[in-house]
Amino acid sequence: MSEPSILLERDGPLGIITLNRPEKLNALNESVRQEIMAAVDQLADDPQVRVAVIHGAGDKAFVAGADVSEFAARTAEEQREVYARRRVYDAVAEFPKPIIAAIHGYCLGGGNELALACDLRVADRTAQFSQAEIRLGIIPGAGGTQRLARLVGPGQALRMGLTGDYIDAEEAYRIGLVELLVDEGEHFDKAMELAGRMARWSPIALGLVKKSVRAAMELPLVEGLELEKELFLEAFASDDGQEGVQAFVEKRRPVFKGS
Ligand code: COA
Repeated sequence: MSEPSILLERDGPLGIITLNRPEKLNALNESVRQEIMAAVDQLADDPQVRVAVIHGAGDKAFVAGADVSEFAARTAEEQREVYARRRVYDAVAEFPKPIIAAIHGYCLGGGNELALACDLRVADRTAQFSQAEIRLGIIPGAGGTQRLARLVGPGQALRMGLTGDYIDAEEAYRIGLVELLVDEGEHFDKAMELAGRMARWSPIALGLVKKSVRAAMELPLVEGLELEKELFLEAFASDDGQEGVQAFVEKRRPVFKGS
């Protein structure tokens, strides 16, 4: 039997998605995309899971892009139909819990767009990033102009999109494309450590922070501040919010139950 192209595991409060197509550098074909969406839905529904980590199997790549051989076999009309369906990038971005991309090796095209859809990116020193679509005569179609410009600014997004140049991990860190740069081979462990530190907190509060910061990328400041107040009140009214404040006053560790 062939290996599954996605592995889904749970380690305590952490959900782990492993992209498991190393022989194709974890390139995203239709079945991988469907499986990631199913995995994300399963982790969203699992109350035990508070934070997720996504990473690539093998020693060469996080994801070397959308599967180019699939593109090659598609007409523009078929591609339009693909775009009309739910997309893996949006499923990841809308996942209600924090999700961290642990990146090594190639992180190209749709792979970079998948990383951009995550909340945080932890890269080791082997990581190489590119919006390589321009090399194929096409452009990024899953956030590689939009989410990228919001994360690193329009100048760097234009530089990456217009040249297709590969940038190394140091530079990706310097321009804000990754939030944490770690030694070779440590991306997964450090991402898990980071996820574990988040998972100590109220899952309600985690979800609300994510919702609020994501809204900051879309709303004018005044509206964003209004939303933030509403979300604060939601956290404040939750059992976990009461528990956290009470535990501080009573000088004990809070126990957050997610209610
Ligand atoms: N889509 C489909 N297959 C891909 C792929 C992609 N995006 N990226 C790599 N692969 C496949 C290769 O075709 C090869 O398959 P094969 O062994 O059946 O021939 C396998 O993965 C290993 O890749 P290979 O090219 O042999 O590795 P390399 O180390 O020589 O080169 C890259 C690595 C990343 C430079 C090269 O694979 C590449 O340029 N890939 C395409 C990157 C890209 O344009 N991505 C953006 C798409 S929008």
